Formats: sequence, C-alpha cells, structure tokens
Amino acid sequence: MAAKAHSVFRCTECGAEQPKWTGRCEACGEWNTLVEEVATSKRARRHGGTGARGSPTGGAVPVRLGDLSAEAVPRYRTGLAEFDYVLGGGIVPGSLVLVGGEPGIGKSTLLLQVAARLEAAGVPTLYASGEESPHQIRLRADRLEEPAARVHVLAETVLERVIEQAVRLDARVLVVDSIQTAYTADLEGAPGNVGQVRECAARLMRFAKESGPSVLLVGHVTKGGGIAGPKTLEHIVDTVLYFEGEGSLDHRILRATKNRFGGVDEIGVFEMTSAGLVPVANPSAAFLAARHAGISGSAVTALMEGTRPMLVEIQALASRAGFGTPQRVSAGLDHRRLAVLLAVLERRAALPFGELDVFVNVVGGVRLSEPSSDLAIVAALISSVRDRALPADALFLGEVGLGGEVRAVAAAERRLAEAVRHGFRRAFVGSRTALKQPDSAIELVRVEHLGELAHRLAA
Ligand code: TYD
Ligand code: MG
Repeated sequence: MAAKAHSVFRCTECGAEQPKWTGRCEACGEWNTLVEEVATSKRARRHGGTGARGSPTGGAVPVRLGDLSAEAVPRYRTGLAEFDYVLGGGIVPGSLVLVGGEPGIGKSTLLLQVAARLEAAGVPTLYASGEESPHQIRLRADRLEEPAARVHVLAETVLERVIEQAVRLDARVLVVDSIQTAYTADLEGAPGNVGQVRECAARLMRFAKESGPSVLLVGHVTKGGGIAGPKTLEHIVDTVLYFEGEGSLDHRILRATKNRFGGVDEIGVFEMTSAGLVPVANPSAAFLAARHAGISGSAVTALMEGTRPMLVEIQALASRAGFGTPQRVSAGLDHRRLAVLLAVLERRAALPFGELDVFVNVVGGVRLSEPSSDLAIVAALISSVRDRALPADALFLGEVGLGGEVRAVAAAERRLAEAVRHGFRRAFVGSRTALKQPDSAIELVRVEHLGELAHRLAA
C-alpha cells in the first residue's frame, strides 16, 4: 500500500507540479487546470528500479557505444500496412506507444486488429481492457476481417494485475485500453486522474524497458485537449500516434507526432468499414473520389504529409450574410489563417468579402497545417465569390504573403508528380517555384501576385 503520502497539484495541460492550488498554472498560464494528486514518498517511487544490472546499488553502468550491437532493431510487423508505416516499419520491441484520439474514433478497433494480426504472426499478445467485457470484445472481433480468436483478452483495471498476467503469458505485446481506466492502488485518487494516468504510464514504461514487451496504450482525448489526457503523457512515452478524423466520415488518419524510432508527421489513412479499419493505399484518390468537376468554390492542392504527397480538395462558399456580423466558419484549417487570407484578398486583390458569410472546408476530414495550401484556399474563395468553377485539371500550390505575393513551396516536384499521377495537367504556382526536372505532363502557370491569379482565373 501507499507509503506516507503528501499532495501536490499538477496542471492537466502542461503537467507542471506545484505545491499549492492556484486558479492559474504558473508554468503555462492556463486557468483552472490544477488538480490534486497524491505523491508517494521517494522510496515507493524508487520501487521497481531502473532495470540496470551490474552495480552494487543496482544502478546502471556505462557502456561504450561501439560495444553495442549495431544491427537494426527487429520490429513486429502487423501487416496492417498503414499502421506499420506510421510507426517507421513496425512495433519496436520494448517500446511504449500511445494511441490517442477522441472517443469513438476507432482506437479499440485498430488495436484489436493489430493484436489479431500479431497473434497470427506468432507474437503472443495480451489485450487488456478496462472499458469492455471480454464478451463485448468478442462481438467486436466477430465483425473484423482479422481472425481474432487466438488473442488473449483480459478485463482488468488494476495495473499490477495486468502486468502480472502479461508476464504469465509471456506476452511480447501488451495493449492497455485505456490509460484512463488503468489504476494502481499505490496512489490515491480515482482512475483517470492525472496522477494515476502518469504513474500507470510510467510503470508501463518501466515494464516495457525491463522485461521487453512492447506496450500499446490507448488514451482518450476530448476536443479541447482533455483532462488527464495524452498531453501529459507525451514526454513519458516513446511514440505518440493520434487517430483523427470526422466521426461522421469514413476516413481516419493516424498521425505520428512523436517517434523515437521513426519519422514524425508521417500519416496513415484508413477507412472505417463494417469489417473494421481498412488501410487506404491511395489517399489522394480516396480524398478526390467525391469531387464534382464544374462546381464553383472547389480547388485542389497537394500537401506533404511527412514524406508523402497527398492531394486534397478545399471547398469554399461565400454567400450574402443574413444579418449582423458575417460568419467565418472553417473546418480543417485554422480560422485565423482564413481571416488573414480574406483580408489579403480584400486589400490586395480588391475582392470584397466584408459583407459575406464565408465557409471553408477541407474534404475528407484532413487538416491543413502548412501554408502551401494558401493558394488553393484563395482560388476556392475567388471561384465561389464569382460563382465560376475553376479548371477541373488545375492544381494550386503556393503560400500567400501579407502583400498578396505568392511564394514557392518546398518539395514542389514531389507534389506535382502526385498531381500528374491523378490526371492534373495544370498547376498554378508561385512565380519563383524552381524545379530541377520540370515534368512536361503538367503545365506550370506561374503567378507572382494574387491580383494576377484573380485576373488569370477570370480569363
Ligand atoms: P472504437 O474502436 O470503439 O472507438 P474508440 O476505442 O476510439 O472509442 O470505434 C467505435 C466506432 O467504430 C463505432 O462507432 C462503431 C464503429 N465500427 C465500425 O464502423 N466498424 C467496425 O467493424 C467496428 C468494430 C466498429
Ligand atoms: Mg475504445
């Protein structure tokens, strides 16, 4: 049981520890984020050690880097292509991976599929759930393509027992669904509280590092970032994957935001079907599938998601405001970016949006995070306000500056090549876009300024 304990207060946003409660976290400045957590004494914390051998006090001993084997780490491949890809080639033995996402997005489904595939590949896997009974998991498993019959499931919330069973089974991969329901009796406080979440994650990390199984942790986040959510865990774990998408749409995007064993910002695209998640091999085609040529307000751009180019459609609708302040609504892009682009269009290209409601949406639940899509957003807006469709075979690539100037984007060649593969024959780009090997299959329309773009699109 718990050693002598005293309380501290921890910020649910940034994880900073403070001795007393205040309304505002001194570290990150957020309001009402401090929650009480019971800290155990140093002795209890040290219990479990650091796993190193060879010193009288049980501490680690230094080794020369050259004495370590240089072989690439073997990884457990699930064969679920997009999942392996995002991890950098499969699950690294002894690593702790956090899979975060909103409730209902498909985290449990994904990890059950992963467990079934690992088990089928001869990697003993334990799926521990604090959220569903084995029977409920069975019902889910029956829907899946994967044969899950051999997967061991355990309905348990007490962390020590989960670890005990994983050891007994000699599981090479342990799934804990979810960290919010995991619980250790050594700490006071209910499951889901920041202290519990952090301590359970830290223990699973030690378990992974000492005994060698990989641990896949599910963490729920709410739209706002979430109480005791994965944010506070990001620095404990090796890899953070976020599973995102619009609940109502079928596409799900798995994104690596931290990866000690692979690249970050790599994404994998899945489709949620009646038989579980199916990797989408060609995301560009999937995102453009529902596009209707000839409709005003639609423009296509090419994003770089990690090292992969991906085409997405941006839709804009500008319509006369009913009353009061015009609305600005955006889905899939930062509303402040939209406000900047509208202001630039108004001042530098004399296109007035002041009296109009403006809605901008990125199709398929994709989120724009790089400024290279500015030109496509602007083109969609121009097209909508004029109610005139853009050329169906045109791609838009460029960042827009405050002066209305159009800048070149990075990795233009790779983006253009993806566009060519999907039948695009024209690309509007910043005038300084430099290409080492221009592709004759796509005509470049170089634009220096937004005014020039507006003029060319009117022609
Ligand atoms: P789930 O994995 O339970 O989400 P999370 O663990 O992130 O909370 O996913 C639940 C949703 O997925 C639910 O709305 C039903 C849907 N679903 C399918 O569409 N097809 C399937 O084969 C399965 C198993 C679930
Ligand atoms: Mg779940």
